[in-house]
Amino acid sequence: MPVATALAHPNLALVKYWGQRDVALQLPMNDSISVNLSGASTLTSVTWDDALESDQLEINGAPATPQTALRVSRHLDHIRTLAGTKVRARVLSQNSFPSGIGIASSASGFAALTLAAAHAAGLRLDSRTLSSMARMGSGSACRSIPDGFAEWSTSPDGDSYAHQLVPQDHWELSIITVHFSPQPKAISSLEGHRAAPSSPFFETRLQHLSLTLETVRRSILERDFRTLGMTAEREALSLHSVAMSSQVPDHPHLSGIYYWQPETLALIHAVQKWRAEGLEIYFTLDAGPAIHLLSEMSSRTPLLDALNDVLPLLDGKLILSTPGKGARLIADSE
Ligand code: PMV
Repeated sequence: MPVATALAHPNLALVKYWGQRDVALQLPMNDSISVNLSGASTLTSVTWDDALESDQLEINGAPATPQTALRVSRHLDHIRTLAGTKVRARVLSQNSFPSGIGIASSASGFAALTLAAAHAAGLRLDSRTLSSMARMGSGSACRSIPDGFAEWSTSPDGDSYAHQLVPQDHWELSIITVHFSPQPKAISSLEGHRAAPSSPFFETRLQHLSLTLETVRRSILERDFRTLGMTAEREALSLHSVAMSSQVPDHPHLSGIYYWQPETLALIHAVQKWRAEGLEIYFTLDAGPAIHLLSEMSSRTPLLDALNDVLPLLDGKLILSTPGKGARLIADSE
């Protein structure tokens, strides 16, 4: 039975994707830039098996929820169509990190799934095609395909995928993710994308993004940490300003979407205080309570010392990353 195993890292957006131009095709309203997180990963193996009547999906050793199983089966349908097969698959997926904390397991999950499923089906796809296909599973998954830093373009012509800006060894940034006890996310990122245009600040955010993209792109190429850090921090706050002022159709009791927890806010204040004291660190936040701390490698030890003083109070846990590689095969056999 053809089987393949692939590993992919989640990615951290430095310029965020928020809002969709096309829901069915997962086309974004804006371009985005990200870096893969070397310290977290998803390992997925896919076996195409003639004897199966339906796809089977296990995540972290337990059967997936019907909703996730359906989403994965639909994704496998794209690969079946391309490979010209009707065979069903057994998918085993393992995350090295908790889900629902603000690290996108759907990004690493769909990147690893796309590569393993395509390879086991005998398809030999280039990075662009893999990225475009991974996008159909979860938008941001397209950015976990290339190595290092990636840019995902809206591509008005239809084919939207992420390409590599620079590889992981271009810049050994330190990224420390601080996460707290997992809590079920009240509002999924999918609902957040749909609600975004209802914010009075959405259009303003989009107007500012071309300058933000240019600044972040250039600061990565020139390894200009101060510019990257402050621009990424402000950009995250811009997304959250939109989220907090969005109306979510299925949740009329909500005046806006708050992904932050009290611990998140405590660390936002701590980062700004440490920075005033001379520790050059910046934060960014995705659609969850985890906070990602960016610094140069030379500041990692002083930052860890500072974190040690506050983490016991917040019951926080750390994931240490540098820019990570893209999705890759670990094993395959016919
Ligand atoms: O790919 P999705 O639908 O999980 O959306 C990701 C949204 C953010 O993580 C908040 C931003 C981003 O660009 O990754």
